[in-house]
Amino acid sequence: MSMKILAVGGGGREHAIVKALARGEAEIFSVMKNKNPGIARASKDFLLAKETDVDKVVQYALAKKVELAVIGPESPLEAGLVDRLTQKGIGCVGPTRSAARIETSKSFARGLLSKYRVPGNIRFASFTDLDAAERHLRSIDYEVAVKPTGLTGGKGVKLQGEHLADGAEVLAYVREIFEKGIGGAGVVLEERLEGEEFTLQAFCDGKNVVPMPLVQDHKRAFDGDKGPNTGGMGSYSSEDHLLPFVNSSEMEEAVDSMKRTVAALASEGAPYRGILYGQFMLTRDGPRIIEFNARFGDPEAMNVLPLLESDFVGICSGIASGDVSRRSCEFRRAATVCKYVVPEGYGTEPMANVPIKVDEEGVQRAGAELYYAAVNEVGGEILTSTSRAVAVVGIDVNIDAAERQCERALRFISGEHIYVRHDIGKHEIIQRKVERVRALRK
Ligand code: AMP
Ligand code: GLY
Repeated sequence: MSMKILAVGGGGREHAIVKALARGEAEIFSVMKNKNPGIARASKDFLLAKETDVDKVVQYALAKKVELAVIGPESPLEAGLVDRLTQKGIGCVGPTRSAARIETSKSFARGLLSKYRVPGNIRFASFTDLDAAERHLRSIDYEVAVKPTGLTGGKGVKLQGEHLADGAEVLAYVREIFEKGIGGAGVVLEERLEGEEFTLQAFCDGKNVVPMPLVQDHKRAFDGDKGPNTGGMGSYSSEDHLLPFVNSSEMEEAVDSMKRTVAALASEGAPYRGILYGQFMLTRDGPRIIEFNARFGDPEAMNVLPLLESDFVGICSGIASGDVSRRSCEFRRAATVCKYVVPEGYGTEPMANVPIKVDEEGVQRAGAELYYAAVNEVGGEILTSTSRAVAVVGIDVNIDAAERQCERALRFISGEHIYVRHDIGKHEIIQRKVERVRALRK
């Protein structure tokens, strides 16, 4: 018997979720604000609506008699979608509003980690008033990362010594956050870490934490990790499910931090059911927590989900019902390289409504996977929005082979005003990261 499942969200991450569900016994209904052609095609029916319009989404779920809902992005979590669906007896992959604070409030997250002494936490302080933040800045002797407390789509964080040249610029940005209300809830100032970042995603059912293969994303817009931060330009994973610069005991430390965080949320009366995303920095002292997200990463979902050999529908049911640890969660031993095609200017002043041509059969012949993201299908033509458009994922025996496959497949996507960070997954850039971590460890 196939299960009626609601999928919420219209990006590349959600296309990957829907594709993974469609491999199992699922009848899929989707809600998205743009007409993502991949999701539309895989769904029995879809509704074009804002994912944060909780009333509309719940009404649709009830009308379609869905039994389970998988929430892709964070904004509907903050709007309380899961609370409402759960009240109506619909199981959810995605945390309640309260548990989602692990992502939606950076001050809640850091406060929880320190209250429960979760390993991997770092020095930080949260402020809801400007004067106190200024006093704190004058009292510390280390460089900081400046983070608006609320949601900013991953683009509000600025680092001293990088985006902010000196203390004066740090102060000016903190003032701007308060004056313009960026993120809407004050500022978190935390110690700036040195190292290499990695992502650990896990299936969580309120108690149990089942890790997925590690992934490394590339947030910077340009080659060589230069330029402004973006939602993520592309990502890779390795056939051993670690990364070339992360060993298994470091991964275990990160998994332990996630387990303790999930236990802490349960102790606070906010059990975490959904996908937990841990962003870690591998430092000279081991993995340190940069942030948690209450969802799959985008692009990171596209690295892990195509490798999932076990039944994703069963795993999702297990997350909602609290017994994910009894389900099989096996991933193929293969490497992946994902590169996003974006409109020119993405990261600063993106163009919009750029037409792109996608030869799906060509991508398939190259052996790669294709995921549509924030595009709209209009009269048979595919138009970008101002955000990431299409992702291509190469999957092969090792990262080099997956990278070459990804590049072969990218040739089947064309457009006059598109941009791709071609260095992602290439040997030279990965080697530089390995060397950096080696130097740190000395
Ligand atoms: P976030 O929105 O918290 O993920 O931050 C965006 C990016 O800023 C991260 O992916 C890191 O590259 C960087 N970042 C955030 N916090 C720190 C930190 N404490 N030290 C160094 N880099 C950081
Ligand atoms: N790739 C970063 C994120 O999904 O937040």
